[in-house]
Parts: sequence; structure tokens; C-alpha cells
Amino acid sequence: MIVIDTDPGLDDALAILFALRSPLLEVAALTSVSGNIGLGLTTANALNLVALAGSKVPVHPGADAPLARAHEPEIAIHGDDGLGGVVLPASPEAPAGSAIAALAQLLMEHPADSLDLHCLGPLTNIALLLDQAPEAAARIGRIIAMGGAVDTHGNFGPGNRAEFNLGQDPEAAQRVLHAGLDVVLIPLDATRQFRADAAWLAALRATGQVAAVTSADLVQAYFGETERESRPLHDPCVPLYALFPDLFTVETRPLQVDGIGALVEGPHPIRVAMGLDAPALRAHLLEGLAA
Ligand code: BDR
Ligand code: CA
Repeated sequence: MIVIDTDPGLDDALAILFALRSPLLEVAALTSVSGNIGLGLTTANALNLVALAGSKVPVHPGADAPLARAHEPEIAIHGDDGLGGVVLPASPEAPAGSAIAALAQLLMEHPADSLDLHCLGPLTNIALLLDQAPEAAARIGRIIAMGGAVDTHGNFGPGNRAEFNLGQDPEAAQRVLHAGLDVVLIPLDATRQFRADAAWLAALRATGQVAAVTSADLVQAYFGETERESRPLHDPCVPLYALFPDLFTVETRPLQVDGIGALVEGPHPIRVAMGLDAPALRAHLLEGLAA
């Protein structure tokens, strides 16, 4: 069983649709966090994506700002609505209760180590859970988180040294990644290898399935005005890793999160996915979105 912690977000949207449509992933809830855009919109976008996927899982709003800094939305990439102007049908559902309380309750209700967290945004909610409900947090099975840049440049902060999810809330990233939890981090080193191009978008559209066609619209918006031939699909790597770990190359690296959220050498052995089989994973993502 999983909870998806997310800030949709164009690439978050594909990850959410894929996970909710997968018969192999049991999604208990979504928790939203401020990140790509503010909490009101990440929550509304998450609710609309759940409805589009034909699911009824609750969406619990979490933190509306990083632990110790101002929120810096990623409007240039995800637009001022978080979904690049792609308008989804409005969900009839309202947000459920607070994310931290919901996570704590789910963790206490289910056997220890049976609930995994799929983290697609800044790690603020998970840091708050560790501090506010340590007994529940100790029952987390595994955290799979998109974040960081290990041997490559980042995409956020001074000198682009950090990656967005860790750089947006470095204090939360330190709290979560230095806690000795069972974590697999999927950094830009891997996710930049996993790309959508025009042929893949055409294949999505050709399926005629609503989740796949909407995903094509979302990735098209992700291209924006750029002339690039392909765009990276960061967040879908998280549910894909959960289902197809053999298609990723994982290393254990001695790391820590520095003051701006960059990953640097340090005392914490962290498992990081450094490579992946992009064609095989693209085929699985297409198949899942079209199911
Ligand atoms: C991460 O930052 C966000 O913009 C994306 O949704 C992804 O989670 C990539 O650095
Ligand atoms: Ca995200």
C-alpha cells in the first residue's frame, strides 16, 4: 500500500495517473504539498487527477510552505495553475483532513513496514510527520523519492547546484534523508535519461484513452515554447521504480544535504538510482496510462 505525496505539477500528474490506474499499486491516499505551485492549487490539481483516473482516494492537504523559508513556485515550467494551462474536469470531491494526521493514522492502522511513501515534491510533509508523529513515522515501510542531483548539475538555487524538490526545502530534505530511514532517491542523474518525445506523445494519443490523451496534453504543455526534442519525465520514475526496480541501476553513496539542498559527500549512506532502462520504462508508462 502506498501514499503519494505530491505537488502537481505536470510530471507529478503523469505519476499520479499511472499509479492510480495500476492494478499492482494500492494507493491509500494522496497528500499535497506546496512546491511547483501553492498548496491550494496542488490540492485542487490532485483532486481533479484522482477524479480523472476514476478513483475515489482522498486528497489530504499538507504543508503550505517549506519548514523555514518562503515558497518559490516553479511557474516558468508548470504555469501559474501548476498544470501548464491544461484544464481538467473539476472533481466533485472536497479536500480531506490534514496530511500529517492522515499519514499518522494510516501508519498506525496498518502493519509496520506495510505502507510506502512515494514522494514527488519537497519533503516538507514527511519532515513534519517525523517530528509530530515519530511513533507512526517509525512504521513507514520505504520512501521512494524523486529528488537531488548526484553527479550532474541541478535545476534550482544558487548555481543550479540543487534540485527543485530538495532545494525548495533543504531543512525538510535533511530531516528525512539523514534519519536513517529506508529511502531510495531517484535523482536528476536518472530522471533526465527518461524522456518523452513527439513519437511517444503520438503513441499516447493514439490509444484514445482519457488518462493517456490527457498525459499527452500535459507533456505537450511541459514542452512549452521550447524547441527541445524531448522533455524529462521526473516523477513517473517513482511508481515505475516501485513496480520495475530491475530496470534501474541503484548505488549506495555517502551523501548529505547541504544548506541549499544540494547533495554533497557526507556521512549518510543513501541509495540513489543513477541509471535506468528508458525504452522499457517508457513502454510500461504508456501501457499503464492507456490501461
Ligand atoms: C522535480 O521538481 C518538480 O518541478 C518536478 O515536479 C519534479 O518533482 C524535478 O526536479
Ligand atoms: Ca513534483
